[in-house]
Amino acid sequence: MVKAVVAGASGGIGQPLSLLLKLSPLVDELALYDVVNSPGVAADLSHISTKAKVTGYLPAEDGLKLAMTGADIVVIPAGIPRKPGMTRDDLFNINAGIVRDLITGIALYAPKAFVLIISNPVNSTVPIAAEVLKKHGVFDPAKLFGVTTLDIVRSETFSATVLGKSDPSIFNVPVIGGHSGDTIVPLLSLASPAVEVDDATRDALVNRIQFGGDEVVQAKEGKGSATLSMAFAGFRFAESILKAVSGETGIVENTFVYLPGIPGGDAIKAETGLDFFSAPVELGASGAIKIENILPKVSEYEKGLLAVAYKGLATSISKGVDFIVKAPEAKM
Ligand code: NAD
Ligand code: LMR
Repeated sequence: MVKAVVAGASGGIGQPLSLLLKLSPLVDELALYDVVNSPGVAADLSHISTKAKVTGYLPAEDGLKLAMTGADIVVIPAGIPRKPGMTRDDLFNINAGIVRDLITGIALYAPKAFVLIISNPVNSTVPIAAEVLKKHGVFDPAKLFGVTTLDIVRSETFSATVLGKSDPSIFNVPVIGGHSGDTIVPLLSLASPAVEVDDATRDALVNRIQFGGDEVVQAKEGKGSATLSMAFAGFRFAESILKAVSGETGIVENTFVYLPGIPGGDAIKAETGLDFFSAPVELGASGAIKIENILPKVSEYEKGLLAVAYKGLATSISKGVDFIVKAPEAKM
């Protein structure tokens, strides 16, 4: 029996992501948690004729506890999205506290669950989650993931566009680093099939992958950021976890993880100086079983991109860690 929880289930990402989970044969129970409207979303989804039993919870009457208890996987798209002109870091002041409180609920009621963080800024919210779980003595690095799959999805789509291919799903382009602007590092030199383009086209493609989120924020004109493509990406990652748990082997996803806790992570930490990094991670029944160090394979041009990414990541990671470590008054 697999119980999945969506925290932030009534939002722009939460609703379509909950729909996709409701459609999945890998989910038996789906608990929807939000500060508004989750019973309504749950009632709506519960009429769909698939097997997952759907329930909805608000904070009142121990809603967080009831939603989280027994969870195998918790996906978190709770928090505010960007408006034009904002960076993801501008969301920190509100979303940091939201993530801290939800992770506290996971630490108390579902300490063995896989935790997938979508809420921005991912480069800081994942370190926040790790610190909260550490404070409660339940941190398992193999089970905490920052969801960076949308960058992979965009790299597939935009590479296909540039090369005039009709099916983006044939592309496999590693995107490493973090999830914001120039911390997003697409490795076109390692793409399969090869993405062979002139330098100007390469620069434009890299820039589009790095700043694809801004494209959607601008197009939505103040009504939020990517939701439907994110629901697709979030479900793709959640489904990979569920498949690995059910015994499927050889599944690899790029995701933002705590390096020292995962086999292979020390080599990346030694090269980057960072505790958290997104790279190809092999998934198994216990979560992240290995992280691949592809840094020795990157091109000179990509080394330049990485040097910039390391600086931004170091700042965002420290900001997240400090939010918990240097705030003893934090609600835990
Ligand atoms: P949204 O405003 O449409 O939905 C957010 C939901 O979170 C709302 O329903 C809100 O009620 C709920 N919420 C707020 N506080 C909560 C709490 N304490 N507990 C539970 N739920 C709470 O926003 P959205 O467009 O769905 O985006 C959500 C987040 O995902 C944003 O931070 C956005 O930046 C981020 N995002 C990340 C990626 C990524 O690639 N990782 C992609 C897109 C968006
Ligand atoms: C994205 O990449 O679309 C998300 O991180 C949302 C945003 O703020 O751009």
